[in-house]
Amino acid sequence: MESKPVINEFSGIAAKGLRNRYIGSLSAADAGERVSVCGWVARVREHGEHLVFVDVRDYSGIVQVVAHSSVDLRSEYVVQVAGLVSERPEGTVNPDLATGEIELTDTEITVLSAAEPPPFAIQDRVEVDEAMRLKFRYLDLRRDKMQHHLRMRARINSAIRASMERQGFTEIETPLLWTPTPEGAREFVVPSRLHQGSTYVLPQSPQIAKQLLMVAGFDRYYQIARCLRDEDLRADRQFEFTQLDLEASFVTQRDIMDFISDAVIAASRAAGISATGEVGEISWKDAMDRFGTDKPDMRFGNELIDVSAVFSNTSVRALSAPCLKALVAPNPSSLTRSKLDDLVDRAKGLGAKGLLWLRAVAGSEGLQFESPVSKFFTADESKSLMDVTKVSEGDVVLIVGDAWEKACHVLGQIRLELGRSQGDPDEFRFVWVVDFPLFEGVDEQGRLISAHHPFTMPNEEDFSKLESDPLSVRSQSYDLVLNGWELGSGSIRIHRADIQSKVFASLGITEEEAGNRFGFLLDAFKYGAPPHGGFAFGIDRLAALLVGEDNIREVIAFPKTQSGADVMTGAPKEIDTRIWDLLGLSVKAPKKYLA
Ligand code: AMO
Repeated sequence: MESKPVINEFSGIAAKGLRNRYIGSLSAADAGERVSVCGWVARVREHGEHLVFVDVRDYSGIVQVVAHSSVDLRSEYVVQVAGLVSERPEGTVNPDLATGEIELTDTEITVLSAAEPPPFAIQDRVEVDEAMRLKFRYLDLRRDKMQHHLRMRARINSAIRASMERQGFTEIETPLLWTPTPEGAREFVVPSRLHQGSTYVLPQSPQIAKQLLMVAGFDRYYQIARCLRDEDLRADRQFEFTQLDLEASFVTQRDIMDFISDAVIAASRAAGISATGEVGEISWKDAMDRFGTDKPDMRFGNELIDVSAVFSNTSVRALSAPCLKALVAPNPSSLTRSKLDDLVDRAKGLGAKGLLWLRAVAGSEGLQFESPVSKFFTADESKSLMDVTKVSEGDVVLIVGDAWEKACHVLGQIRLELGRSQGDPDEFRFVWVVDFPLFEGVDEQGRLISAHHPFTMPNEEDFSKLESDPLSVRSQSYDLVLNGWELGSGSIRIHRADIQSKVFASLGITEEEAGNRFGFLLDAFKYGAPPHGGFAFGIDRLAALLVGEDNIREVIAFPKTQSGADVMTGAPKEIDTRIWDLLGLSVKAPKKYLA
Protein backbone atom coordinates (compact mmCIF):
# COMPACT_ATOMS: atom_id res chain seq x y z
CA MET A 1 0.00 0.00 0.00
CA GLU A 2 1.10 3.56 -0.62
CA SER A 3 2.34 5.52 2.31
CA LYS A 4 3.34 8.83 0.66
CA PRO A 5 0.93 11.50 1.88
CA VAL A 6 -0.97 13.32 -0.81
CA ILE A 7 -1.64 16.96 -0.01
CA ASN A 8 -4.78 17.18 2.05
CA GLU A 9 -6.62 19.69 -0.11
CA PHE A 10 -9.86 18.00 0.88
CA SER A 11 -9.62 18.96 4.55
CA GLY A 12 -12.42 21.31 5.28
CA ILE A 13 -14.05 20.62 1.90
CA ALA A 14 -17.42 18.95 2.25
CA ALA A 15 -17.78 15.83 0.12
CA LYS A 16 -20.87 15.95 -2.07
CA GLY A 17 -22.93 13.84 -4.42
CA LEU A 18 -22.25 10.11 -4.31
CA ARG A 19 -20.12 10.34 -1.17
CA ASN A 20 -20.22 12.15 2.12
CA ARG A 21 -16.55 11.69 3.06
CA TYR A 22 -13.13 11.75 1.43
CA ILE A 23 -11.18 8.62 2.29
CA GLY A 24 -8.19 10.44 3.76
CA SER A 25 -10.44 12.20 6.27
CA LEU A 26 -11.53 8.94 7.95
CA SER A 27 -10.03 8.08 11.33
CA ALA A 28 -10.73 6.19 14.55
CA ALA A 29 -12.67 9.24 15.73
CA ASP A 30 -15.36 8.30 13.17
CA ALA A 31 -15.81 4.76 14.54
CA GLY A 32 -19.47 3.81 14.65
CA GLU A 33 -20.45 6.25 11.90
CA ARG A 34 -21.90 5.10 8.57
CA VAL A 35 -20.16 6.81 5.69
CA SER A 36 -20.16 6.74 1.94
CA VAL A 37 -16.92 7.03 -0.06
CA CYS A 38 -16.05 6.75 -3.75
CA GLY A 39 -12.86 5.78 -5.52
CA TRP A 40 -10.85 3.16 -7.39
CA VAL A 41 -10.12 -0.39 -6.25
CA ALA A 42 -6.42 -0.51 -5.46
CA ARG A 43 -6.20 -4.15 -4.38
CA VAL A 44 -8.42 -7.12 -3.57
CA ARG A 45 -7.22 -9.77 -1.10
CA GLU A 46 -8.98 -13.00 -0.15
CA HIS A 47 -9.78 -13.16 3.54
CA GLY A 48 -11.25 -16.32 4.95
CA GLU A 49 -14.18 -18.14 3.44
CA HIS A 50 -16.57 -15.55 2.15
CA LEU A 51 -14.76 -12.30 2.77
CA VAL A 52 -12.37 -10.14 0.78
CA PHE A 53 -10.38 -7.09 1.81
CA VAL A 54 -10.62 -4.36 -0.79
CA ASP A 55 -8.35 -1.35 -0.67
CA VAL A 56 -10.24 1.60 -2.10
CA ARG A 57 -8.36 4.74 -3.12
CA ASP A 58 -9.33 8.31 -3.80
CA TYR A 59 -6.75 11.07 -4.13
CA SER A 60 -6.78 11.73 -0.42
CA GLY A 61 -6.01 8.22 0.84
CA ILE A 62 -6.70 4.52 0.89
CA VAL A 63 -9.10 2.62 3.11
CA GLN A 64 -9.58 -1.06 3.74
CA VAL A 65 -13.10 -2.24 2.93
CA VAL A 66 -14.37 -5.58 4.16
CA ALA A 67 -16.66 -7.08 1.52
CA HIS A 68 -18.44 -10.27 0.69
CA SER A 69 -16.51 -12.36 -1.82
CA SER A 70 -19.54 -12.60 -4.07
CA VAL A 71 -18.93 -8.99 -5.19
CA ASP A 72 -16.98 -9.02 -8.45
CA LEU A 73 -14.26 -6.41 -7.94
CA ARG A 74 -10.97 -5.97 -9.76
CA SER A 75 -8.17 -3.43 -9.75
CA GLU A 76 -9.17 0.02 -10.93
CA TYR A 77 -12.93 -0.63 -10.85
CA VAL A 78 -14.67 2.56 -9.81
CA VAL A 79 -16.85 1.99 -6.77
CA GLN A 80 -19.10 3.65 -4.28
CA VAL A 81 -18.85 2.10 -0.82
CA ALA A 82 -21.33 2.69 1.98
CA GLY A 83 -20.12 1.19 5.23
CA LEU A 84 -19.57 1.44 8.94
CA VAL A 85 -16.28 2.94 10.16
CA SER A 86 -14.91 0.29 12.54
CA GLU A 87 -11.73 0.10 14.54
CA ARG A 88 -9.56 -2.71 13.25
CA PRO A 89 -9.19 -5.75 15.51
CA GLU A 90 -6.11 -5.71 17.69
CA GLY A 91 -2.93 -6.71 15.91
CA THR A 92 -4.23 -5.69 12.47
CA VAL A 93 -3.59 -1.95 12.69
CA ASN A 94 -1.42 -0.74 9.76
CA PRO A 95 0.84 2.07 11.00
CA ASP A 96 2.01 2.84 7.43
CA LEU A 97 -1.45 3.93 6.39
CA ALA A 98 -3.13 7.17 7.52
CA THR A 99 -6.42 5.27 7.86
CA GLY A 100 -4.61 2.20 9.25
CA GLU A 101 -6.56 2.11 12.51
CA ILE A 102 -9.92 1.61 10.82
CA GLU A 103 -11.74 -0.30 8.12
CA LEU A 104 -15.20 -0.13 6.58
CA THR A 105 -17.44 -3.05 7.54
CA ASP A 106 -21.03 -3.98 6.91
CA THR A 107 -20.58 -2.59 3.42
CA GLU A 108 -22.73 -2.07 0.35
CA ILE A 109 -20.59 -1.72 -2.75
CA THR A 110 -21.85 -0.32 -6.04
CA VAL A 111 -19.67 -0.68 -9.12
CA LEU A 112 -19.87 2.66 -10.91
CA SER A 113 -17.55 1.62 -13.68
CA ALA A 114 -15.75 -1.61 -14.55
CA ALA A 115 -12.12 -1.42 -15.70
CA GLU A 116 -9.83 -3.46 -17.87
CA PRO A 117 -6.62 -4.59 -16.17
CA PRO A 118 -4.32 -1.52 -16.27
CA PRO A 119 -1.08 -1.84 -18.29
CA PHE A 120 0.88 -1.15 -15.09
CA ALA A 121 0.09 -1.15 -11.40
CA ILE A 122 -1.01 2.21 -10.04
CA GLN A 123 1.68 2.33 -7.37
CA ASP A 124 4.61 4.69 -6.91
CA ARG A 125 7.05 1.94 -6.19
CA VAL A 126 6.40 0.12 -9.47
CA GLU A 127 8.97 1.27 -12.05
CA VAL A 128 7.26 1.98 -15.36
CA ASP A 129 8.88 2.65 -18.69
CA GLU A 130 8.70 6.34 -19.65
CA ALA A 131 6.95 5.69 -22.97
CA MET A 132 4.25 3.64 -21.20
CA ARG A 133 3.80 6.33 -18.58
CA LEU A 134 3.20 8.94 -21.27
CA LYS A 135 0.99 6.72 -23.45
CA PHE A 136 -1.27 6.03 -20.47
CA ARG A 137 -0.68 9.36 -18.78
CA TYR A 138 -4.17 9.40 -17.22
CA LEU A 139 -3.20 6.23 -15.32
CA ASP A 140 0.27 7.51 -14.49
CA LEU A 141 -1.37 10.65 -13.07
CA ARG A 142 -3.52 8.47 -10.79
CA ARG A 143 -0.38 7.55 -8.86
CA ASP A 144 0.27 9.26 -5.53
CA LYS A 145 3.49 10.88 -6.68
CA MET A 146 1.93 12.57 -9.69
CA GLN A 147 -1.17 13.57 -7.71
CA HIS A 148 1.16 15.15 -5.20
CA HIS A 149 3.26 16.97 -7.81
CA LEU A 150 0.40 18.48 -9.77
CA ARG A 151 -1.46 19.54 -6.65
CA MET A 152 1.75 21.06 -5.32
CA ARG A 153 2.19 22.91 -8.60
CA ALA A 154 -1.31 24.35 -8.21
CA ARG A 155 -0.38 25.56 -4.73
CA ILE A 156 2.79 27.12 -6.06
CA ASN A 157 0.81 28.96 -8.75
CA SER A 158 -1.64 30.17 -6.21
CA ALA A 159 1.12 31.45 -3.89
CA ILE A 160 2.73 33.27 -6.82
CA ARG A 161 -0.58 34.90 -7.73
CA ALA A 162 -1.13 35.97 -4.14
CA SER A 163 2.38 37.44 -3.96
CA MET A 164 1.88 39.38 -7.19
CA GLU A 165 -1.45 40.73 -6.10
CA ARG A 166 -0.14 41.70 -2.69
CA GLN A 167 2.53 43.69 -4.49
CA GLY A 168 0.02 45.59 -6.61
CA PHE A 169 0.31 43.69 -9.90
CA THR A 170 -2.63 43.29 -12.30
CA GLU A 171 -3.07 40.03 -14.20
CA ILE A 172 -3.59 40.61 -17.93
CA GLU A 173 -3.78 37.97 -20.65
CA THR A 174 -1.90 38.56 -23.89
CA PRO A 175 -2.49 36.95 -27.31
CA LEU A 176 -1.35 33.49 -28.35
CA LEU A 177 -1.90 34.22 -32.04
CA TRP A 178 0.79 36.82 -32.39
CA THR A 179 3.87 38.00 -34.21
CA PRO A 180 7.52 36.90 -33.71
CA THR A 181 9.12 37.58 -30.31
CA PRO A 182 12.89 37.98 -30.21
CA GLU A 183 13.84 35.36 -27.59
CA GLY A 184 16.28 33.38 -29.70
CA ALA A 185 14.43 30.08 -30.27
CA ARG A 186 12.54 28.92 -33.36
CA GLU A 187 8.84 29.70 -33.39
CA PHE A 188 5.69 27.69 -33.95
CA VAL A 189 3.60 29.16 -36.72
CA VAL A 190 -0.14 28.95 -37.31
CA PRO A 191 -1.43 29.27 -40.88
CA SER A 192 -4.37 31.57 -41.42
CA ARG A 193 -7.48 30.49 -43.31
CA LEU A 194 -8.62 34.06 -43.86
CA HIS A 195 -5.20 35.45 -44.76
CA GLN A 196 -3.83 32.68 -46.94
CA GLY A 197 -0.07 32.65 -47.31
CA SER A 198 0.36 34.45 -43.99
CA THR A 199 0.85 33.00 -40.54
CA TYR A 200 0.46 33.93 -36.93
CA VAL A 201 3.39 33.11 -34.67
CA LEU A 202 2.88 31.62 -31.22
CA PRO A 203 4.64 33.73 -28.57
CA GLN A 204 7.97 32.59 -27.17
CA SER A 205 7.05 34.90 -24.29
CA PRO A 206 4.72 37.88 -23.76
CA GLN A 207 7.80 40.14 -23.99
CA ILE A 208 6.56 42.64 -26.55
CA ALA A 209 2.97 42.63 -25.35
CA LYS A 210 4.00 43.41 -21.79
CA GLN A 211 6.15 46.34 -22.90
CA LEU A 212 3.13 47.69 -24.80
CA LEU A 213 1.12 47.34 -21.57
CA MET A 214 3.66 49.63 -19.89
CA VAL A 215 3.14 52.24 -22.63
CA ALA A 216 -0.57 51.72 -21.98
CA GLY A 217 -0.08 52.78 -18.37
CA PHE A 218 -0.69 49.50 -16.54
CA ASP A 219 2.31 50.14 -14.34
CA ARG A 220 2.56 46.65 -12.79
CA TYR A 221 1.48 43.75 -15.01
CA TYR A 222 1.81 40.01 -14.43
CA GLN A 223 0.63 36.83 -16.06
CA ILE A 224 1.01 33.12 -15.51
CA ALA A 225 1.74 32.81 -19.20
CA ARG A 226 1.94 29.86 -21.59
CA CYS A 227 4.93 30.24 -23.89
CA LEU A 228 5.88 28.22 -26.96
CA ARG A 229 9.34 27.62 -28.35
CA ASP A 230 10.38 25.18 -31.03
CA GLU A 231 13.72 24.13 -29.55
CA ASP A 232 15.47 20.86 -28.73
CA LEU A 233 13.83 19.28 -25.73
CA ARG A 234 15.73 18.22 -22.64
CA ALA A 235 15.16 17.75 -18.92
CA ASP A 236 14.46 21.45 -18.31
CA ARG A 237 12.82 22.26 -21.65
CA GLN A 238 9.46 21.59 -23.27
CA PHE A 239 7.91 23.17 -26.36
CA GLU A 240 5.11 24.53 -24.19
CA PHE A 241 5.94 25.85 -20.79
CA THR A 242 4.67 28.35 -18.27
CA GLN A 243 6.27 31.54 -17.02
CA LEU A 244 5.50 33.91 -14.23
CA ASP A 245 5.90 36.97 -16.40
CA LEU A 246 5.95 40.50 -15.02
CA GLU A 247 6.73 44.03 -16.07
CA ALA A 248 6.66 47.26 -14.08
CA SER A 249 7.15 50.97 -14.79
CA PHE A 250 9.23 53.61 -12.99
CA VAL A 251 11.21 50.96 -11.15
CA THR A 252 14.85 50.01 -10.67
CA GLN A 253 16.49 46.65 -11.19
CA ARG A 254 16.50 46.20 -7.40
CA ASP A 255 12.70 46.70 -7.24
CA ILE A 256 12.13 43.97 -9.82
CA MET A 257 14.50 41.62 -8.02
CA ASP A 258 12.58 42.25 -4.79
CA PHE A 259 9.19 41.55 -6.44
CA ILE A 260 10.47 38.27 -7.79
CA SER A 261 12.27 37.23 -4.60
CA ASP A 262 8.98 37.67 -2.74
CA ALA A 263 7.18 35.44 -5.26
CA VAL A 264 9.74 32.60 -5.24
CA ILE A 265 9.99 32.57 -1.47
CA ALA A 266 6.18 32.50 -1.21
CA ALA A 267 6.15 29.63 -3.73
CA SER A 268 8.79 27.72 -1.74
CA ARG A 269 6.83 28.14 1.48
CA ALA A 270 3.70 26.89 -0.28
CA ALA A 271 5.70 23.80 -1.24
CA GLY A 272 6.61 23.29 2.41
CA ILE A 273 10.15 24.64 2.12
CA SER A 274 10.96 27.32 4.61
CA ALA A 275 14.74 27.07 4.72
CA THR A 276 15.46 29.13 1.63
CA GLY A 277 17.12 32.00 3.50
CA GLU A 278 17.74 35.29 1.72
CA VAL A 279 18.12 35.27 -2.04
CA GLY A 280 21.88 35.77 -2.61
CA GLU A 281 23.53 37.90 -5.28
CA ILE A 282 26.67 37.49 -7.38
CA SER A 283 27.98 39.34 -10.43
CA TRP A 284 28.20 37.45 -13.71
CA LYS A 285 31.99 37.95 -13.71
CA ASP A 286 32.32 36.50 -10.19
CA ALA A 287 30.00 33.61 -10.99
CA MET A 288 32.14 32.73 -14.02
CA ASP A 289 35.39 33.19 -12.10
CA ARG A 290 34.37 31.18 -9.05
CA PHE A 291 31.92 28.61 -10.43
CA GLY A 292 32.69 28.60 -14.17
CA THR A 293 29.06 29.21 -15.10
CA ASP A 294 26.39 31.89 -15.07
CA LYS A 295 24.10 29.48 -13.21
CA PRO A 296 26.15 28.52 -10.19
CA ASP A 297 25.10 25.70 -7.90
CA MET A 298 26.19 27.26 -4.64
CA ARG A 299 25.17 24.41 -2.36
CA PHE A 300 28.75 23.21 -2.37
CA GLY A 301 32.19 24.84 -2.45
CA ASN A 302 35.08 23.56 -4.53
CA GLU A 303 35.31 26.95 -6.20
CA LEU A 304 37.62 27.54 -9.14
CA ILE A 305 40.92 29.22 -8.28
CA ASP A 306 42.81 31.50 -10.63
CA VAL A 307 46.42 30.28 -10.82
CA SER A 308 47.52 32.32 -13.85
CA ALA A 309 49.92 34.36 -11.70
CA VAL A 310 51.64 31.21 -10.35
CA PHE A 311 52.80 30.23 -13.81
CA SER A 312 53.36 33.65 -15.36
CA ASN A 313 56.95 32.70 -16.27
CA THR A 314 56.43 29.02 -16.97
CA SER A 315 58.33 27.05 -19.59
CA VAL A 316 55.56 24.41 -19.78
CA ARG A 317 53.58 24.90 -23.01
CA ALA A 318 50.33 23.57 -21.60
CA LEU A 319 50.49 26.25 -18.91
CA SER A 320 51.26 29.13 -21.26
CA ALA A 321 47.66 30.21 -21.66
CA PRO A 322 45.93 33.57 -21.17
CA CYS A 323 44.12 32.14 -18.16
CA LEU A 324 44.78 29.19 -15.85
CA LYS A 325 41.96 27.94 -13.66
CA ALA A 326 42.43 25.30 -10.98
CA LEU A 327 40.03 23.12 -9.02
CA VAL A 328 40.80 21.05 -5.95
CA ALA A 329 38.75 17.96 -6.72
CA PRO A 330 36.29 16.64 -4.16
CA ASN A 331 36.68 12.94 -3.21
CA PRO A 332 40.29 12.73 -4.48
CA SER A 333 40.69 9.11 -3.39
CA SER A 334 38.10 8.09 -6.00
CA LEU A 335 40.20 9.66 -8.76
CA THR A 336 42.16 6.68 -10.03
CA ARG A 337 44.49 7.03 -12.98
CA SER A 338 41.84 5.84 -15.40
CA LYS A 339 39.23 8.25 -13.92
CA LEU A 340 41.74 11.07 -14.38
CA ASP A 341 42.25 10.00 -18.01
CA ASP A 342 38.45 10.11 -18.45
CA LEU A 343 38.44 13.63 -17.03
CA VAL A 344 41.08 14.69 -19.53
CA ASP A 345 38.88 13.33 -22.34
CA ARG A 346 35.85 15.05 -20.83
CA ALA A 347 37.70 18.39 -20.76
CA LYS A 348 38.70 17.94 -24.40
CA GLY A 349 35.11 17.06 -25.26
CA LEU A 350 34.10 20.39 -23.71
CA GLY A 351 36.53 22.18 -26.00
CA ALA A 352 39.68 22.47 -23.84
CA LYS A 353 43.08 21.63 -25.28
CA GLY A 354 43.70 19.44 -22.25
CA LEU A 355 43.50 19.13 -18.49
CA LEU A 356 46.46 18.84 -16.16
CA TRP A 357 46.17 16.94 -12.92
CA LEU A 358 48.51 16.98 -9.94
CA ARG A 359 48.25 14.91 -6.80
CA ALA A 360 49.65 16.28 -3.52
CA VAL A 361 51.73 13.54 -1.89
CA ALA A 362 54.07 13.38 1.09
CA GLY A 363 57.72 13.52 -0.09
CA SER A 364 61.06 13.58 1.69
CA GLU A 365 60.84 17.38 2.05
CA GLY A 366 57.16 17.64 2.86
CA LEU A 367 54.17 17.91 0.54
CA GLN A 368 54.95 17.73 -3.18
CA PHE A 369 53.03 17.37 -6.44
CA GLU A 370 53.04 14.11 -8.32
CA SER A 371 52.08 14.50 -11.96
CA PRO A 372 53.42 14.00 -15.48
CA VAL A 373 54.17 17.78 -15.63
CA SER A 374 55.28 18.62 -12.10
CA LYS A 375 58.92 17.87 -12.81
CA PHE A 376 58.93 20.97 -15.03
CA PHE A 377 57.75 23.23 -12.17
CA THR A 378 60.24 25.44 -10.35
CA ALA A 379 60.31 25.14 -6.56
CA ASP A 380 58.65 28.56 -6.34
CA GLU A 381 55.85 27.53 -8.68
CA SER A 382 55.12 24.35 -6.69
CA LYS A 383 55.16 26.29 -3.44
CA SER A 384 52.88 29.07 -4.60
CA LEU A 385 50.48 26.59 -6.24
CA MET A 386 50.23 24.80 -2.90
CA ASP A 387 49.62 28.11 -1.16
CA VAL A 388 46.85 29.33 -3.45
CA THR A 389 45.10 25.98 -3.69
CA LYS A 390 45.59 25.19 0.03
CA VAL A 391 45.98 21.48 -0.72
CA SER A 392 46.53 18.75 1.84
CA GLU A 393 48.00 15.33 1.35
CA GLY A 394 46.02 13.22 -1.14
CA ASP A 395 44.28 16.19 -2.80
CA VAL A 396 44.10 16.35 -6.57
CA VAL A 397 44.41 19.69 -8.35
CA LEU A 398 42.95 19.96 -11.86
CA ILE A 399 44.11 22.78 -14.13
CA VAL A 400 42.74 24.07 -17.44
CA GLY A 401 44.58 26.74 -19.42
CA ASP A 402 42.73 28.63 -22.15
CA ALA A 403 40.99 31.90 -22.92
CA TRP A 404 39.29 33.09 -19.69
CA GLU A 405 35.72 32.16 -20.56
CA LYS A 406 36.66 28.73 -21.98
CA ALA A 407 38.89 27.83 -19.00
CA CYS A 408 36.11 28.84 -16.58
CA HIS A 409 33.43 26.96 -18.53
CA VAL A 410 35.35 23.69 -18.84
CA LEU A 411 36.45 23.53 -15.23
CA GLY A 412 33.02 24.71 -14.07
CA GLN A 413 31.44 21.69 -15.79
CA ILE A 414 33.99 19.37 -14.22
CA ARG A 415 33.34 20.93 -10.81
CA LEU A 416 29.66 20.14 -11.24
CA GLU A 417 30.22 16.60 -12.42
CA LEU A 418 32.60 15.78 -9.58
CA GLY A 419 30.83 17.73 -6.88
CA ARG A 420 27.12 17.58 -7.62
CA SER A 421 26.52 14.70 -5.23
CA GLN A 422 27.87 16.90 -2.42
CA GLY A 423 24.99 19.35 -2.79
CA ASP A 424 22.31 18.81 -0.14
CA PRO A 425 19.13 17.88 -2.09
CA ASP A 426 17.02 19.50 0.65
CA GLU A 427 18.80 22.84 0.39
CA PHE A 428 17.38 25.56 -1.87
CA ARG A 429 19.92 28.25 -2.75
CA PHE A 430 18.34 31.02 -4.79
CA VAL A 431 20.87 33.47 -6.17
CA TRP A 432 20.65 36.55 -8.37
CA VAL A 433 23.27 36.81 -11.08
CA VAL A 434 23.70 40.48 -12.05
CA ASP A 435 25.83 42.66 -14.35
CA PHE A 436 25.68 40.42 -17.41
CA PRO A 437 27.49 41.65 -20.50
CA LEU A 438 25.13 43.32 -23.01
CA PHE A 439 26.55 41.28 -25.91
CA GLU A 440 27.71 37.70 -25.69
CA GLY A 441 30.06 37.74 -28.68
CA VAL A 442 30.05 38.22 -32.44
CA ASP A 443 28.58 36.04 -35.19
CA GLU A 444 30.33 34.90 -38.41
CA GLN A 445 29.44 38.17 -40.10
CA GLY A 446 31.04 40.15 -37.28
CA ARG A 447 27.71 41.29 -35.86
CA LEU A 448 27.31 41.47 -32.11
CA ILE A 449 24.93 38.98 -30.49
CA SER A 450 22.54 40.10 -27.73
CA ALA A 451 23.13 38.28 -24.46
CA HIS A 452 19.48 38.76 -23.47
CA HIS A 453 17.32 40.48 -26.08
CA PRO A 454 17.70 43.67 -28.11
CA PHE A 455 15.52 45.75 -25.75
CA THR A 456 17.88 45.35 -22.79
CA MET A 457 19.16 48.63 -21.37
CA PRO A 458 22.97 48.97 -21.19
CA ASN A 459 24.43 49.85 -17.80
CA GLU A 460 24.40 53.66 -17.68
CA GLU A 461 28.07 53.81 -16.64
CA ASP A 462 28.97 51.97 -19.86
CA PHE A 463 26.91 54.04 -22.36
CA SER A 464 30.06 55.70 -23.68
CA LYS A 465 31.63 52.34 -24.59
CA LEU A 466 28.72 51.21 -26.81
CA GLU A 467 30.63 52.09 -29.97
CA SER A 468 34.26 51.98 -28.82
CA ASP A 469 34.30 48.75 -26.79
CA PRO A 470 30.86 47.11 -27.02
CA LEU A 471 31.92 43.71 -25.63
CA SER A 472 32.85 45.33 -22.32
CA VAL A 473 29.43 46.99 -21.94
CA ARG A 474 27.44 45.58 -19.03
CA SER A 475 23.68 45.39 -19.22
CA GLN A 476 20.95 46.06 -16.72
CA SER A 477 19.90 42.44 -16.79
CA TYR A 478 19.72 39.80 -14.12
CA ASP A 479 19.06 36.07 -13.85
CA LEU A 480 17.63 34.08 -10.99
CA VAL A 481 19.35 30.75 -10.37
CA LEU A 482 18.29 27.91 -8.08
CA ASN A 483 20.69 25.06 -7.30
CA GLY A 484 22.43 25.35 -10.67
CA TRP A 485 19.28 25.81 -12.78
CA GLU A 486 18.45 29.06 -14.57
CA LEU A 487 15.00 29.84 -13.25
CA GLY A 488 14.48 33.10 -15.01
CA SER A 489 15.82 36.28 -16.47
CA GLY A 490 14.89 39.87 -16.93
CA SER A 491 16.14 43.35 -17.59
CA ILE A 492 15.49 47.03 -17.50
CA ARG A 493 14.39 47.87 -21.05
CA ILE A 494 15.45 50.58 -23.41
CA HIS A 495 12.69 53.18 -23.54
CA ARG A 496 14.68 55.86 -25.39
CA ALA A 497 14.73 55.78 -29.19
CA ASP A 498 18.33 57.08 -29.43
CA ILE A 499 19.75 54.26 -27.27
CA GLN A 500 17.61 51.68 -29.05
CA SER A 501 18.93 52.80 -32.45
CA LYS A 502 22.51 52.48 -31.20
CA VAL A 503 21.90 48.96 -29.88
CA PHE A 504 20.12 47.91 -33.08
CA ALA A 505 23.05 49.30 -35.06
CA SER A 506 25.53 47.30 -32.92
CA LEU A 507 23.47 44.17 -33.53
CA GLY A 508 23.53 44.80 -37.28
CA ILE A 509 19.75 45.33 -37.34
CA THR A 510 19.02 47.96 -39.96
CA GLU A 511 16.34 50.59 -39.40
CA GLU A 512 14.25 48.96 -42.11
CA GLU A 513 14.58 45.52 -40.50
CA ALA A 514 13.81 46.94 -37.05
CA GLY A 515 10.76 48.65 -38.54
CA ASN A 516 9.55 45.41 -40.14
CA ARG A 517 10.08 43.30 -37.05
CA PHE A 518 9.14 45.59 -34.20
CA GLY A 519 7.79 48.75 -35.90
CA PHE A 520 4.60 48.67 -33.83
CA LEU A 521 6.62 48.65 -30.59
CA LEU A 522 8.97 51.40 -31.74
CA ASP A 523 5.94 53.43 -32.82
CA ALA A 524 4.32 52.91 -29.43
CA PHE A 525 7.47 54.22 -27.76
CA LYS A 526 6.98 57.51 -29.62
CA TYR A 527 3.84 58.19 -27.61
CA GLY A 528 5.33 58.41 -24.14
CA ALA A 529 7.12 55.27 -22.94
CA PRO A 530 7.75 55.12 -19.20
CA PRO A 531 11.08 53.71 -18.01
CA HIS A 532 10.29 50.06 -17.35
CA GLY A 533 11.71 46.62 -16.75
CA GLY A 534 10.61 43.11 -16.00
CA PHE A 535 11.35 39.50 -15.46
CA ALA A 536 10.06 35.99 -16.19
CA PHE A 537 10.78 32.71 -14.50
CA GLY A 538 9.86 29.18 -15.52
CA ILE A 539 7.14 27.78 -13.26
CA ASP A 540 7.78 24.25 -14.57
CA ARG A 541 11.42 24.51 -13.50
CA LEU A 542 10.61 26.02 -10.12
CA ALA A 543 7.92 23.42 -9.39
CA ALA A 544 10.19 20.53 -10.47
CA LEU A 545 12.99 21.67 -8.19
CA LEU A 546 10.70 22.34 -5.25
CA VAL A 547 9.19 18.84 -5.42
CA GLY A 548 12.64 17.28 -5.85
CA GLU A 549 12.48 16.23 -9.52
CA ASP A 550 15.14 16.74 -12.16
CA ASN A 551 12.84 16.69 -15.19
CA ILE A 552 10.05 19.22 -15.74
CA ARG A 553 7.89 16.46 -17.29
CA GLU A 554 7.20 15.32 -13.73
CA VAL A 555 5.23 18.49 -12.98
CA ILE A 556 3.41 18.78 -16.32
CA ALA A 557 0.14 16.90 -16.83
CA PHE A 558 0.59 16.08 -20.51
CA PRO A 559 4.20 16.70 -21.58
CA LYS A 560 5.85 15.80 -24.89
CA THR A 561 8.52 13.14 -25.29
CA GLN A 562 12.13 14.02 -26.09
CA SER A 563 11.27 13.99 -29.81
CA GLY A 564 8.39 16.39 -29.29
CA ALA A 565 5.65 13.80 -29.75
CA ASP A 566 2.54 13.25 -27.68
CA VAL A 567 2.44 9.45 -27.60
CA MET A 568 -1.03 9.39 -26.08
CA THR A 569 -2.86 11.40 -28.75
CA GLY A 570 -0.40 10.72 -31.56
CA ALA A 571 0.19 14.45 -32.13
CA PRO A 572 1.63 15.82 -34.30
CA LYS A 573 -0.49 13.96 -36.84
CA GLU A 574 -0.84 14.20 -40.57
CA ILE A 575 -3.97 16.12 -41.38
CA ASP A 576 -6.60 15.74 -44.01
CA THR A 577 -5.68 17.25 -47.36
CA ARG A 578 -8.96 19.19 -47.24
CA ILE A 579 -7.59 21.17 -44.30
CA TRP A 580 -4.46 22.06 -46.25
CA ASP A 581 -6.69 23.19 -49.11
CA LEU A 582 -8.76 25.31 -46.77
CA LEU A 583 -5.60 27.00 -45.56
CA GLY A 584 -4.31 27.42 -49.11
CA LEU A 585 -1.29 25.22 -48.36
CA SER A 586 0.21 22.02 -49.68
CA VAL A 587 2.87 19.75 -48.24
CA LYS A 588 5.95 19.14 -50.41
CA ALA A 589 6.80 15.71 -48.99
CA PRO A 590 5.75 14.50 -45.59
CA LYS A 591 8.78 14.06 -43.38
CA LYS A 592 8.38 11.77 -40.43
CA TYR A 593 10.72 13.05 -37.80
CA LEU A 594 13.60 15.44 -38.17
CA ALA A 595 16.13 14.56 -35.48
P1 AMO B 1 13.92 33.75 -21.01
O1 AMO B 1 13.96 33.41 -22.45
O2 AMO B 1 15.20 33.71 -20.26
O3 AMO B 1 13.36 35.21 -20.78
O4 AMO B 1 12.86 32.79 -20.29
C1 AMO B 1 12.58 32.91 -18.92
C2 AMO B 1 12.48 31.55 -18.28
O5 AMO B 1 11.52 30.73 -18.92
C3 AMO B 1 11.89 29.36 -18.76
N1 AMO B 1 12.02 28.71 -20.08
C4 AMO B 1 11.63 27.44 -20.32
N2 AMO B 1 11.10 26.51 -19.51
C5 AMO B 1 10.78 25.31 -20.06
N3 AMO B 1 10.96 25.01 -21.36
C6 AMO B 1 11.49 25.92 -22.22
N4 AMO B 1 11.63 25.61 -23.52
C7 AMO B 1 11.87 27.20 -21.70
N5 AMO B 1 12.41 28.33 -22.23
C8 AMO B 1 12.50 29.22 -21.23
C9 AMO B 1 13.23 29.34 -18.06
C10 AMO B 1 13.76 30.72 -18.37
O6 AMO B 1 14.71 31.14 -17.44
N6 AMO B 1 10.92 37.66 -21.97
C11 AMO B 1 12.08 37.23 -21.20
C12 AMO B 1 11.97 37.63 -19.76
C13 AMO B 1 12.09 39.12 -19.53
O7 AMO B 1 13.09 39.72 -19.99
O8 AMO B 1 11.19 39.68 -18.86
C14 AMO B 1 12.20 35.70 -21.30
O9 AMO B 1 11.32 35.01 -21.75
O10 AMO B 1 13.03 29.13 -16.67
